[in-house]
Amino acid sequence: MIKSKLLRSILCCVICIGTNLLPASAQQTTDPATESKIESLIKKMTLEEKIGMIHGNSSFTSTGVARLGIPELMTSDGPHGVRPEHGRDWVLDNKGDDSSTYLPVGITLASTWNPEMGYASGSVLGSEANYRGKDVILGPGINIMRTPLNGRNFEYMSEDPYLISKMVVGYIKGVQDQGVSASLKHYMGNNQEINRSGINVEMSERALREIYLPGFKAAVVEGGVNTVMGSYNRFRGEYCTYNDYLINKILKGEWGFQGLVMSDWGAIHSTKEALLGGADLEMGTDLAMLPNPDYSKFFFAEPALKMVRNGEIPESVIDDKVRRILRVMYKTHMFDKRPSGSYATKEHSDVARKIAEEGIILLKNKGNILPLDKMTVKTIAVIGANGNRDNAMGGGSSQVRTKYEITPLKGLQNLCGNSIGITFEQGYTIARNAQADPKLIQQAVEAAKKADVAIVVGGWTHGYDYSTWSDNAYDTEGFDKPNMNMPFGQDELIRAVIKANPNTIVVLYGGGPIDIDTWVNEAKGILQVGYPGMEGGTALAEILFGVVNPSGKLTVTFPKHLDDSPAHKLGEYPGDSINVHYNEDIFVGYRYFDTYKLQPQFAFGHGLSYTTFKYSKPVVVTSTGSALVKLSVQNTGTRQGAEVVQLYVRDLKSSLKRPIKELKAFKKVFLNAGESKEIEFSLDKSAFSYYDDKQNQWVLEPGKFDILIGSSSSDLKTKNRVKL
Ligand code: BGC
Repeated sequence: MIKSKLLRSILCCVICIGTNLLPASAQQTTDPATESKIESLIKKMTLEEKIGMIHGNSSFTSTGVARLGIPELMTSDGPHGVRPEHGRDWVLDNKGDDSSTYLPVGITLASTWNPEMGYASGSVLGSEANYRGKDVILGPGINIMRTPLNGRNFEYMSEDPYLISKMVVGYIKGVQDQGVSASLKHYMGNNQEINRSGINVEMSERALREIYLPGFKAAVVEGGVNTVMGSYNRFRGEYCTYNDYLINKILKGEWGFQGLVMSDWGAIHSTKEALLGGADLEMGTDLAMLPNPDYSKFFFAEPALKMVRNGEIPESVIDDKVRRILRVMYKTHMFDKRPSGSYATKEHSDVARKIAEEGIILLKNKGNILPLDKMTVKTIAVIGANGNRDNAMGGGSSQVRTKYEITPLKGLQNLCGNSIGITFEQGYTIARNAQADPKLIQQAVEAAKKADVAIVVGGWTHGYDYSTWSDNAYDTEGFDKPNMNMPFGQDELIRAVIKANPNTIVVLYGGGPIDIDTWVNEAKGILQVGYPGMEGGTALAEILFGVVNPSGKLTVTFPKHLDDSPAHKLGEYPGDSINVHYNEDIFVGYRYFDTYKLQPQFAFGHGLSYTTFKYSKPVVVTSTGSALVKLSVQNTGTRQGAEVVQLYVRDLKSSLKRPIKELKAFKKVFLNAGESKEIEFSLDKSAFSYYDDKQNQWVLEPGKFDILIGSSSSDLKTKNRVKL
């Protein structure tokens, strides 16, 4: 199945490193000899030189010290591809020689439920960053998907902290094993774009520890990430980038983070507070956007210099920041020979394709309409503007100038050649406030009637419309979507097409769920593709025709309606422009739907296959506070396929209210027809504990726990009960 040599070596590498995790401190500091080189460099530097290193000097760089051989630090977005080149003044170079590999975005990557894919994605990014001379890749983004409306959900991974923790570690190691630094963002609570630059997030300590921090912690402690980007918003009143509790106490204190904390672009608003609050590097946009940006006016430039000179800030505070930056530079091979990397290669696009193949999710397959059979399907009507639209340059800072992009239409044409007649109708118009267009719908209906199968490609779309904040129905940075409804009159279009041809399959693009309730029962086939990268159309066509058996699973609950979503029902969204209270607390996503018995459209972890799997009853052996779970899974169908075996834990009785079940382990297993494999899950005490905010600690209450194992959070196949 794995075709390229690179992919094989990437995957082999992840297996090797997976068993040899170094302790966090060992990963983040450098060796003693390098630490002493760093100290001697700091001793040689003037205060002005040190200050030069802690603030941006162009859109993506900070200053080095040429006389000491310290280079500029070169950062670049973003999570799913190396961003096109900018001039130092924030304007795209447009030289056209910076096209790179456009990988599936965060939500699609996580939908593979395969940490090896995280590593593969990171490796491609690291390699292309090296080739393009970038020292830091500004990704991964791992904010919790608290609301379906967040315009940046596409860049993020999941509503579930455990799944994020597993996917993010592979990604970071993939990037950093290439000698490039990853930048973990956005720490913390940047879960909406509306009022992102200052909204104050209020949540309980329990929600912080159980839901919002674990992904970041895993990235630091297990992934050894070199840099962390503080978010725009505030948390408990203080800006996150220099929030004493989040940065000094938790990140640098509890987790022992030795790398550098950079601000999001323009996220610093003061000098003294920010210097003392733990921010190490001020990056920015605002001043840089002026015709003649004056970086000496940054908070961490002249104002910082003045404060050290007049004794308000000890020089040792600046030294610590410089030390952290130098540490990252050594780890990123900025003082020795860097790996040369490679750029937009066939091997890299193979990785993009492989991730898309594993990340596309089959949500519904009534009467086994899929896979399509080339022997019987002779005509296909592809309908919908997303069917032949490029997405790589959309979405904001994560834009990628891709070498090429295979749209669904191109993917189908490539796979089918002349053997199947394929037509295309736009069906709807992507434009602000665009409504159903009777003429386009009529054309689509005519095409659908003539075809054996209609494939409507719709859902969300990347784009910008700066003219309004309130009705920007796009997946993009800086905006949230106004509601969860299908934009541009797609509901009417889909209903009409299904009526014209019952053999209709709907393909949904986008950063998460969308309200499909008016036609979900009538559509025979539904797929969720996220934004599947430059080879997305190839992967989609392969799945539609059964060349590849789908194995992606939802990383987020798909509610029927927005009002069902806990942030909207129990919590606040988007707050009152000053504060937002996360009153839904730990009941985010399926934790809420399952506990409060609300039926979602599709459950967290859901995703169908063209084959079937049988689970044996798990055997569980317990010892103090831990459990070893063993079971076998068999492919009982007639074609090979992969199953994501998901393990949830239910605490039968606890002093604090707990979700009815929580994901605590999973494994993606590849099985040939008829094959079965033994699977082992080792659960430590973290799988059974909750955070008690009264005691300020994790608590494992002795008692009975159910170990629930299945194919999704709602499709549980087998279980066992243990007493701890
Ligand atoms: C985004 C970051 C991004 C930075 C640099 C900010 O607006 O929030 O995610 O890395 O810009 O482009």
